[in-house]
Amino acid sequence: MKLSTYEPDALQPGARRLSYGLFCWLNRHTTVLRAIGALLRRWPAIGGRFGLVARASAVKDVLTRTRSFSNTAHAANMVSGDYLIGMDPGPTYTADRELVHARLAALDVPNASDEEAKRRIEILARTGARGFDLIEGYLMWVVFHAMKPLFGSATDAVVAGSADPSAQAAVDEGLQRQYMLEIRYVAGQLLAGSLATLELRRRAETCGDALQARIDRVSGPIGTAWGVKSASEDIERNAVGLAWISHPVTVQSGALAVQELLGRPQVYEQLWSRARSLGDRVWTDAGFRKDVRDHMLELMRFRPIFPLLARDVPRDTELQTGARQNAKCPGGGKVSLLSIAALFDPSVDRDIGRFCPNRDWGSDDPLRYLMFGYGYRQCPARDHAVEILTSAMIGLLTLPRLQLAREGKAITYDGPLMLSMRMRIT
Ligand code: HEM
Repeated sequence: MKLSTYEPDALQPGARRLSYGLFCWLNRHTTVLRAIGALLRRWPAIGGRFGLVARASAVKDVLTRTRSFSNTAHAANMVSGDYLIGMDPGPTYTADRELVHARLAALDVPNASDEEAKRRIEILARTGARGFDLIEGYLMWVVFHAMKPLFGSATDAVVAGSADPSAQAAVDEGLQRQYMLEIRYVAGQLLAGSLATLELRRRAETCGDALQARIDRVSGPIGTAWGVKSASEDIERNAVGLAWISHPVTVQSGALAVQELLGRPQVYEQLWSRARSLGDRVWTDAGFRKDVRDHMLELMRFRPIFPLLARDVPRDTELQTGARQNAKCPGGGKVSLLSIAALFDPSVDRDIGRFCPNRDWGSDDPLRYLMFGYGYRQCPARDHAVEILTSAMIGLLTLPRLQLAREGKAITYDGPLMLSMRMRIT
């Protein structure tokens, strides 16, 4: 379902700007969100009255009751049309899910992500750069190259937006960058949600239309690359969805994790020194890789890209918030899940507020991955994304020490998205 920007806005312009500003501010200040989450965990009945869920047990409960709490809550923010993440179970959902699993099986991670991370780091070393943009100069490319098999032989056609071989031959980094910006704003609308200002929504819709048109022109090559003969509308829906859902979220998650790491100088120093002592073995030492992966997960726990998730309530039901009485959820309403509060629920571990990459999560291990959702609707690319970001992090650890750039603003934001993050190599 695609909403038109030209519908009268239910919110006053000032109220929209204010609530959106507050939303973005909270996204950047997750400690405040965590503090609110702690209050709602302590008094779950209060949250329950407003459809807010914070305890780990309650968040898991909602996310596993997929028929009572529906993913269609995402649909209104999917500006380029319907896709798996916003669908209810059914034949289309099942077929699309199979397709995404087949495409993910074609990825060659961590080899491809290691390769691109090494390549980018070598360029920085060769040119003697004293600084670079973490997003535009590094993460974007590591993720792009790792994800190439999603479109396989049709990648250049998708980037060029043309089935014409001469247009595909002209694909260079400039065009690739252009494509990545387009999908970034489409994905951005899913993060910004219904509070986004109308200007932002319009920009996302324009990019969503452009993405649809681009894919429409190359559904033939995509079908060939995927080896499927399904109707072109099925190919288009999946290709459009895969384009925006895969790349931008992974890049943003990587940037958030690096920001969190740099805010923890001792943790960074420890990892960096280990990387240094490993020398050439930094890419092959399995113990180090596992440790960096554990760090990556812990950094993502502190800075999840989706600190909140929403669900539609199709018909009257109740949910167990953890209070003595269940909260009523009237049909037609919504519930909001504070995943970030569940990730820090002390019922899992009394010491859960501490940064501890080696924590033994025991039987709660699946909760550790809550930044990817939970249960059947969890992100199918979870492990691939963690591997790609682990490669990216190992690459960064092989550089001389890193800091955020000092002159001017190091990080530029665009709503809840980070557009650029300028780094200084010291
Ligand atoms: C660090 C990177 C990523 C993060 C943090 C992430 C996060 C998430 C989350 C939280 C959900 C569940 C949303 C919900 O339950 O409402 C989800 C679903 C999904 N993700 Fe990811 N994701 C990432 C990367 C990717 C990539 C690379 C792909 C591409 C292939 C992908 C494809 C999907 C799909 C298709 C779904 C919908 C699954 C369903 O509804 O059954 N994600 N992701």
